[in-house]
Amino acid sequence: MKLFLDTGNVKEIEQLAAIGIIDGVTTNPSLMAKETGDYRKTMKEICRIVQGPVSAEVIATEFEGMIREGRDLATIDEHIVVKVPFTRDGVRACKTLSGEGLKVNVTLVFSAAQALLAAKVGATFVSPFVGRLDDVGQDGMQLIQEIVEIYRNYPFHTEVLVASTRHPIHIVQAAKMGADICTCPAKVIDQLFKHPLTDIGLTNFLKDHEKAQAARV
Ligand code: E4P
Repeated sequence: MKLFLDTGNVKEIEQLAAIGIIDGVTTNPSLMAKETGDYRKTMKEICRIVQGPVSAEVIATEFEGMIREGRDLATIDEHIVVKVPFTRDGVRACKTLSGEGLKVNVTLVFSAAQALLAAKVGATFVSPFVGRLDDVGQDGMQLIQEIVEIYRNYPFHTEVLVASTRHPIHIVQAAKMGADICTCPAKVIDQLFKHPLTDIGLTNFLKDHEKAQAARV
């Protein structure tokens, strides 16, 4: 399963990409609003670091605007994936932009029916938001299970990009279900590394090594 970083922060991306576990980046207007500097330059820099898919979201809400913006975003770098919201215009824009050979991520997906439509119009990625579903008392991971099952029944090429992840359990469940990708905030990636027994085990190994060294002197 691929791991994407859900951020527009170049420093965070640099730090985690250096470890070798980041396959791509997703951004959205809320994440980019936290960053300073020129939008295009930031996106270009993110693409340079990641060398994988980098989602850049359109702001336009009607079809023509989405197409204009999507084509423009795609000129930033070959790794740019145009992100469109799941609306009627967004689905139509996905069909057109995908037909032109651009990669499209259909975002703000909250139902299996929406995911089915996104696949039908050739989305490269579909982004179901699991954390936001959990927030309103619906099981977000149940939706992932449904989408993975539906996509397996047909020769769709759309990859399931599990979004709005909040903790490692989301990531592990997604991997067990066979989702293609999880996008995570840096905090969740940090949590994936942690286990108290690893820390305790390492501390004890080093202590025992020091004791043995001291005894040999
Ligand atoms: C995905 O592409 C979105 O940017 C993101 O995962 C949304 O996460 P949130 O619900 O934590 O804002």
